Amino acid sequence: MDSTRQIRNIALIGFMGTGKSSVGRMVADTLHFTFLDTDDVIQARAGISIREIFDNHGEAVFRDWERRLVEELARRTKTVISTGGGLPANEANFVSLQSHSLVVCLWASPEKIYQRVKSQTHRPLLHDPDPQAKIRELLTAREPYYRKADVLVNTDFRSAREVALQVLHQFHMAQPVPQ
Ligand code: S3P
Repeated sequence: MDSTRQIRNIALIGFMGTGKSSVGRMVADTLHFTFLDTDDVIQARAGISIREIFDNHGEAVFRDWERRLVEELARRTKTVISTGGGLPANEANFVSLQSHSLVVCLWASPEKIYQRVKSQTHRPLLHDPDPQAKIRELLTAREPYYRKADVLVNTDFRSAREVALQVLHQFHMAQPVPQ
């Protein structure tokens, strides 16, 4: 890892249903860091749900909310940031996160993702006649972005607790060695 990088935060990226929020909360608790979920912040600011933002204003407006929030995050310290699944597909968002965070991607197979999200209704991009095909399509398109993360953790056969331990281990490894 580039020794000039300042890793003050942890950013969790990855597809919907990979456990970013649950894992992020566990990691933040253990480190006594603040936990921040980009979707939660955007919903609180907009005063409506993500689904309503998509329905009433369109995806482009949502992506703009994300972009502006990511710019603000560059000032944070000791924060675990859980990001919306599409956020790192904007190159500038990814570069900004990497300037202050260890970027960890939580990975899962399309089958596992479908199992985890099929009974949930709050994700507008999965309101599709064939959600499994939609998951495969989006995952394929986003894989190159997710793969740019500093660390990739496969969550298919790990509990949230095990994934959190992996993330904590990687974060400790990324800290500079005291001189
Ligand atoms: C999205 C993922 C969602 C949310 C929005 C769009 C995406 O977040 O930001 O529905 O583009 O993959 P989660 O990954 O937390 O579900």
